[in-house]
Amino acid sequence: MQLGIDDISFATADRYLDLATLAPVHGVDVDKFRIGLGQDRMSVCAADEDVVTLAAAAAQPLVESLSAAELRTVRTVLLATESGIDQSKSAAVYVHHLLGLDPACRVVELKQACYSGTAALQTALALVARNPEQKVLVICSDVARYELDSPGEPTQGAGAVAMMISADPRLVVIEPASGLHTADVMDFWRPNYRSTAVVDGRLSIRAYLDTLKAAWLDYQDQGGEPFASFDAFCYHQPFTRMAVKAHAHLTKVVGQPLDAASAEAQVADTLRYNRVIGNSYTASMYIGLVSLLDHSERDLAGARVAFFSYGSGAVGELFAGVVRPGYRDHLRTAAHQELLERRREVDHAEYLRLYDVPNPTDGGDHPVPAQTSGPFRLAAITGHQRVYERTAQSAVDGIARAAASAPAATTTATTLPAAG
Ligand code: CAA
Repeated sequence: MQLGIDDISFATADRYLDLATLAPVHGVDVDKFRIGLGQDRMSVCAADEDVVTLAAAAAQPLVESLSAAELRTVRTVLLATESGIDQSKSAAVYVHHLLGLDPACRVVELKQACYSGTAALQTALALVARNPEQKVLVICSDVARYELDSPGEPTQGAGAVAMMISADPRLVVIEPASGLHTADVMDFWRPNYRSTAVVDGRLSIRAYLDTLKAAWLDYQDQGGEPFASFDAFCYHQPFTRMAVKAHAHLTKVVGQPLDAASAEAQVADTLRYNRVIGNSYTASMYIGLVSLLDHSERDLAGARVAFFSYGSGAVGELFAGVVRPGYRDHLRTAAHQELLERRREVDHAEYLRLYDVPNPTDGGDHPVPAQTSGPFRLAAITGHQRVYERTAQSAVDGIARAAASAPAATTTATTLPAAG
């Protein structure tokens, strides 16, 4: 029985900051961000967006494409995040409600920095292996925040990805072998009392690369496929240049070293969306997969893709997937493209206002201004409760999707900046 990703979709914040706006504030040439980090823009959440609204927006098209009978087979929702909105209640429960999913469902949130989306995926595969008639909805959703004026600031971003995991998947079969590595490293973390991450940037890059090597070696010990059998490589992308560094590093580990330019060419299609979204922590590697599927001019049917998922702290997993024939008929390329084009650019003053959006803790009644053009919004924080609602855009998106449901989009997204 083949198991894997049957459907995939991403969402991002309503606004973005061009890193050309941030470069003079940091007193650096914009090429430090565009070339040195491989980032052009970063998504910025409106006041009424958070991991719940992004997650629901990413999953809405998947849910709306299922019949009522198929929806009842979605008996598990797993939401991975490291920027959760509650220490106790899962963000997934809010999302389950906003999407109108069946109450006969197990719903939970997972955490281990940027890695936990992969833990969710592997858990989902195990659940479907036991109950092949069921589907599992896996969502990764994060808002990446660093201190203003810190080296991490240009690597912020926000995004969510939703994946329907099933037997006989239409997009990517996930193979059983996995290479694993865990080590207790203080490279990046966020204590409960902070809204921004604490990070040792240089150590985090070292830890990422060490974890990649260890996970690859374990993957080989577990009977994984040889390096030469891979057609594409998809890495966690805290900034897209990190994927290029990682790929060059892996080629050295396997004894087939590549220079940076050649390494970049081999991962270029996985970088295109993240270059303009920024870091989306748990979602970033899977947005990289969407980018590869949406942009590859070559038909990837039968191609084996290596995935390296990294979560600071640190846990890494290296695994493989094989793209299914006919996958292009089930992509959502046009919707992803439109989503990115719909974002509104903010200037530095508006970015600062949104960075400092109040997070009231007094239990009072705090309506949140309506700002997002996305399908879901945070309407209020009242009596210590977060109140979410659908927006008018939710119905518009649903109608547009229904009208566009056949034939499925297969266009190549060409209007985004090219990688590199
Ligand atoms: N033109 C072109 N390139 C330039 C340039 C210019 N004018 N000026 C500088 N550069 C290059 C530098 O040479 C450097 O390239 P190399 O790394 O290849 O040497 C690159 O731009 C970055 O420059 P610095 O090293 O000076 O950058 P920095 O000190 O400002 O910080 C960073 C970089 C450490 C990544 C920082 O952005 C950071 O702390 N980010 C957050 C942590 C992070 O993303 N870590 C990644 C691994 S951890 C992880 O993956 C989990 C996660 O999601 C966070």
